[in-house]
Amino acid sequence: MDKLLITGGARLSGEIRVSGSKNAALPILAATLLGTSPVRLSNLPHLNDVTTMISLLRCMGVGVTIDERMCVEIDASSITEYEAPYELVKTMRASILVLGPLLARFGRADVSFPGGCAIGSRPVDIHLRGLEAMGATIEIDGGYIRARAPEGGLRGAHFLMDKVTVGGTENLLMAAVLANGTTVLDNAAKEPEIVDLANCLVAMGAKIKGIGSDRLEVDGVAELNGCSWSVMPDRIEAGTYLVAAAATCGSIKLKDTDADSMEAVLIKLREAGADIELGDDWISLNMHGKRPRAVSLRTAPHPAFPTDMQSQFMAMNAVAEGISQITETIFENRLIQVHELNRMGANIALEGNTALVTGVEKLKAAPVMASDLRASASLVIAGLLAEGETLVDRIYHIDRGYECIEEKMQQLGAKIRRVPG
Ligand code: UD1
Repeated sequence: MDKLLITGGARLSGEIRVSGSKNAALPILAATLLGTSPVRLSNLPHLNDVTTMISLLRCMGVGVTIDERMCVEIDASSITEYEAPYELVKTMRASILVLGPLLARFGRADVSFPGGCAIGSRPVDIHLRGLEAMGATIEIDGGYIRARAPEGGLRGAHFLMDKVTVGGTENLLMAAVLANGTTVLDNAAKEPEIVDLANCLVAMGAKIKGIGSDRLEVDGVAELNGCSWSVMPDRIEAGTYLVAAAATCGSIKLKDTDADSMEAVLIKLREAGADIELGDDWISLNMHGKRPRAVSLRTAPHPAFPTDMQSQFMAMNAVAEGISQITETIFENRLIQVHELNRMGANIALEGNTALVTGVEKLKAAPVMASDLRASASLVIAGLLAEGETLVDRIYHIDRGYECIEEKMQQLGAKIRRVPG
């Protein structure tokens, strides 16, 4: 198993390009199942999760052509299987996103029931109840969700999601675009990745009102076409590099990014003392060599502070001036990085879903273990801050979400390399 070896102490400086968004790419890849003609996707990030989703489409018989620049043409006219097998779903929970499109277009879907993961139990009850509201029958059998549409296809429905769910909103939106009649999804998630998916569906011929709001109104159409779509920039990858730069008192510029999707994170970085400038498609951050100030935060659905950026801010707060409080409200076990950070000399106390972080002058290198995608990013940041050599184990978690992390970090002056295990 590969590891990352990081020698701390360098201040990040320089310029890098932000990749396409993983969390937008995955639902958009699932949405290609809805098209009667090929969909061409560009700006897909080169990541294990994206490869897994493409393998999933392929194993259903979907035609996939990839060129050397990761532009992918997907033709779902040749589909022969309507199943997401256990072997793929167990490696990537987002496989559940094929449920809505398969059911809407082909009237049937058998998707292995995704289990919990390191950060929480992560049920999919809202996805299933929403599909039932559209007339689907759902059985759980042999570890699989076996969903069938009624005669004549899914029916439009008014569905109130009792919790804000990103994946649930995406699945139900993709089901609704081909349902008979109008569907209203209330208390919908409005993350920028959902906006990207919805706009891609509109480019395929879907009729969706309220994009970007918590009430999506969808008039079902008989058929969707193909389209060409460029996936939005990854706001979490961008945020991770900005926090890493702030924590190391550095100065960086990110290209091909979108500041509008990152307001809550940029507010917190400014509060930490960062000088931030924004352009059409770039963001620059400069700490002018100063140590960051501790910032308190509470995660919540968009447009509030994203749970996917919580652990990176914790690593920065670990060496910031002052005391901060970080409260996680989305996932029940998403403060798992605390123990590894404390092993590196951080001073973090846990109380329920809140971490109290007292900033220390320096962290000390230690061998640490990645446990989930974003917690791993916090360990990389901590490694950049620590005195000595930090070895981060189980970095397959990082590779699920960060394209070429060591190359990009090296480009910014970090001393980091991959050690084959
Ligand atoms: C997506 C993101 C993930 C991010 C999360 C929250 C992708 C591929 N992943 O995950 O990076 O951290 O949004 O922004 O886009 N819930 C239920 N019942 C359901 C569905 C969800 O109780 O049917 C709960 C979950 O357990 C969790 C909360 O709702 O506590 C939010 O989860 P959700 O927004 O669905 O997260 P994902 O879509 O899995």
